[in-house]
Amino acid sequence: MRDVAELSVLWDLCEGARREGRTVSLVPTMGALHAGHASLMDAAAPDSFCVVSVFVNPLQFGEGEDLDRYPRTLDADRAVCASHGVDVLFAPAHDAVFPDGFSSQVRVGGLTDRLEGVHRPGHFDGMTTIVAKLFGMVGKSTAYFGQKDYQQLQIVTRMARDLNLPIEIVGCPIVREDDGLALSSRNRYLSPDERARALSLSRGLAAAESLWVEGIRDRNALQRAALEPIEAAADRVDYVEAVDPQTLQPYGDGPGCVVLVAAHIGTTRLIDNRVLD
Ligand code: PAJ
Repeated sequence: MRDVAELSVLWDLCEGARREGRTVSLVPTMGALHAGHASLMDAAAPDSFCVVSVFVNPLQFGEGEDLDRYPRTLDADRAVCASHGVDVLFAPAHDAVFPDGFSSQVRVGGLTDRLEGVHRPGHFDGMTTIVAKLFGMVGKSTAYFGQKDYQQLQIVTRMARDLNLPIEIVGCPIVREDDGLALSSRNRYLSPDERARALSLSRGLAAAESLWVEGIRDRNALQRAALEPIEAAADRVDYVEAVDPQTLQPYGDGPGCVVLVAAHIGTTRLIDNRVLD
């Protein structure tokens, strides 16, 4: 595995791999890697040239969010990548990513207005800007994203299509702890008591799923079932919403639905979701 920080070196390695007839796989991350990230590396085609980027992107953190305390664990991240067949760990410095005078932005309309977009203004613009830059740095490739960040996955897919980027987007299932908690780099902020209360998110989603399996399609009933345990355990609930899986508009009567939740447990903000179909 190669450790790469320079953009030109990354480009040359990816070009070289493509010349040899290999596809390039990209797994964008902010580091503090866990089994959820590793599942994206494992999803990449085994004979592809796999690049994992680790960059804590300041553009996607709002004021008062956790940019400063976001875990930075590059040595451990290197070990995870090495044990999952990664070819390049790309961890650029801030100044290499943002040259003097950097002043561009990529913004996806519509899908960014709801859910996370309401509670984290500017977050998605920062996210799409860095992801578009990563796509530009790597070139033609297949990029792997987790359904854990469901709205992010939809937005990145839309961006790649709208802008004719030579990137195929693949979405991968959420990896959970045995008790249901979705893996997240932010879980390490949780105290034991908060860790127990954080389980309410996946419990709420399971409650909504039970109703769905019983044939209940009423949006408010699904949302209420999910909200109840979360409201009881969390310090603040940002949203619990049942939406259309593609448009992210409030669920009507389509064949599928996704319930998304965001809640604060102590000082930690967690998100989770479940696709019902
Ligand atoms: P990060 O939170 O590090 O997540 C990187 C990728 O791992 C995302 O695609 C995310 O959905 C996926 N992931 C995280 N937890 C997961 C889990 N439990 N199961 C499956 N996949 C999981 O998302 C970002 O970074 C950033 O916004 C980024 C795209 C890198 C742009 O800065």
